[in-house]
Amino acid sequence: MRIDKLLAHAGYGTRNDVKKLLKSGVVTLNGQIIKSAKQQVDENKDLIKVDQEEVVFTQNVYYMLNKPQGYVSATTDLLHPVVTDLIDDVHELFPVGRLDIDTEGLLLLTNDGQFAHHLTSPRHHIDKIYEAIIDQEIDDSDINAFKEGIELEDFTCQSADLKVIDADKNLVQVTIQEGKYHQVKRMFQSRGKEVLYLRRIQIGPLKLDSNLASGEYRLLTSTEINGLSK
Ligand code: URA
Repeated sequence: MRIDKLLAHAGYGTRNDVKKLLKSGVVTLNGQIIKSAKQQVDENKDLIKVDQEEVVFTQNVYYMLNKPQGYVSATTDLLHPVVTDLIDDVHELFPVGRLDIDTEGLLLLTNDGQFAHHLTSPRHHIDKIYEAIIDQEIDDSDINAFKEGIELEDFTCQSADLKVIDADKNLVQVTIQEGKYHQVKRMFQSRGKEVLYLRRIQIGPLKLDSNLASGEYRLLTSTEINGLSK
């Protein structure tokens, strides 16, 4: 990896800030002053110092991605591209929970296992809000069944909130606190209905940033990270 990229990811500012830092002669690689931003380094082997202080490269990072369709929520896959391909970062990122290959929207990626566990454990009751287009009209009996807890073959879902957003388009909003395999699709299937389109728009207090086009991502702010960690 290039040294400017490593320093930027380790918290030494933007690539431009890092370039200036390098030019000033305070960065050393295994004891040698390095001024070129293009210098290749191995973060696992090389000793990099800024102003005599070792660069520690283990900090946690947190991204919000507007996941496009066609990507698998995994770090490797034999057949399809994976969500970690979309993020230019040197940390060992993984997705927080999963969205199906054809589901779009808010997906978090991090290298912080505890944070991921906190958000995905159903015991923590963190809302995950989805927008869905259904193949048929939704009626009060569907809304009540979601509220009572849909029974699937392998488990009974916790109470879920189902709201009709646009009846003409069969556009609904569903709030669940679990994240079982194909959960939202299976909940509708149990009512004899099919999800034609699915997008996650919110996790806990965090809404999908409307400035992110499909496939775009950004770092979470510390306020956002704290809000999700509570
Ligand atoms: N429920 C589903 O069915 N699919 C997803 O991707 C997320 C929730």
